[in-house]
Amino acid sequence: MDTKSNIEKTKALAPDVAINAVLVPSQELPAETPIVSGFNWENGTDYNKILESYLHSGFQATNFGKAVEEINKMLKCRSTPLTEETCDPYEEDIFIKKKTNCTIFLGYTSNMISSGLRDTIRFLVKNKLVDCIVTTAGGVEEDFIKCLAPTYIGDFNLSGKILRTRGINRIGNLLVPNDNYCLFEEWVTPLLDEMLDEQTKHNVVWSPSRIIARLGERIDNEDSVCYWAWKNNIPIFSPALTDGSLGDMMYFHSYKKPGLIIDILSDLRRLNTMAVKANNTGMVILGGGVIKHHICNANLMRNGADFAVYINTASEFDGSDSGARPDEAISWGKIRVNATPVKLYAEATLVFPLIVAQSFAKHHFSNKKNV
Ligand SMILES: NC(=O)c1ccc[n+]([C@@H]2O[C@H](COP(=O)([O-])OP(=O)(O)OC[C@H]3O[C@@H](n4cnc5c(N)ncnc54)[C@H](O)[C@@H]3O)[C@@H](O)[C@H]2O)c1
Repeated sequence: MDTKSNIEKTKALAPDVAINAVLVPSQELPAETPIVSGFNWENGTDYNKILESYLHSGFQATNFGKAVEEINKMLKCRSTPLTEETCDPYEEDIFIKKKTNCTIFLGYTSNMISSGLRDTIRFLVKNKLVDCIVTTAGGVEEDFIKCLAPTYIGDFNLSGKILRTRGINRIGNLLVPNDNYCLFEEWVTPLLDEMLDEQTKHNVVWSPSRIIARLGERIDNEDSVCYWAWKNNIPIFSPALTDGSLGDMMYFHSYKKPGLIIDILSDLRRLNTMAVKANNTGMVILGGGVIKHHICNANLMRNGADFAVYINTASEFDGSDSGARPDEAISWGKIRVNATPVKLYAEATLVFPLIVAQSFAKHHFSNKKNV
């Protein structure tokens, strides 16, 4: 029996109320509505095509595809050369001076530098693919500590009690021997002495971004994100710089040689100035908390970012800023009303290298080929 006569038969027998509820006729969807489809495996494995297929696969795969599109829009806008009218000739601060037509703000939480994502972030900074960074204290110190001694892969289930007796610290399924922090203290303490000396003798005002640039210069190690940020005049802001091992070192130092002052307001001015002066801005924010809000708030100063990608695991049901979707930021003026922001609900170590492969890396290597 064909489907039509099946429906007719059902209509004759079943109660009208149920028929009307279940067999509601559909209205036409707009002609351009994409059809769900996945990767065709018949011709073998092609990672680029697999990632391209995500856009029409649905759920977070579609958000992955949209995040790639949004970053590619940022990069296209960024590649428009600055003109005499759109450049910034009077800005003397080389770290915040406008360098491109779209200032890209990159934010990441501390654990991302503890993880292998540090290498992806370094690629972006080394090749000047972002203009400004905001991270938390661990996102700074773990970068230096990794230059002094390695971080290891462990397991989420290792016992805290046993690890403590062995002097091993756990970050998720990563392990950092306590000795690494001792090496960090040996390295950083003379640099804190030096900064205090410059403050006393030459009235140098130290802000988190200036401290990070100094440490980046002194680590003199090409594995370091902070080294490349210093070398390429990309500022790293960290308003809560004392909330980590670096803070512990500063606390001990304050007993040995008291007096070092860290000015967070001058950094806020630097960060907000970058947003205000930018021709266009894009935000790529990995994780939540201080880093997410600090970048979004700077963009409020210019009536919102033009492009935005959030990648995090947080949900909005608790009212947290970490979980807030881009639409909430639009209500505050942190993202422009006509923007096409994307939130990808995902763990960053899984997805960000793949996003970079489909956006920043393609852009970078195709530009290199064309030179
Ligand atoms: N290695 C470390 O994690 C480390 C080291 C030293 C100090 N600290 C300090 O701990 C404090 C809290 O750390 P924080 O503010 O950097 O962030 P956090 O670790 O508290 O994370 C904030 C939010 O970001 C999201 N997030 C975190 N990791 C994610 C991931 N892998 N993928 C997707 N989303 C993710 C989650 O929603 C999380 O609630 C900071 O002050 C920091 O300096 C951390």
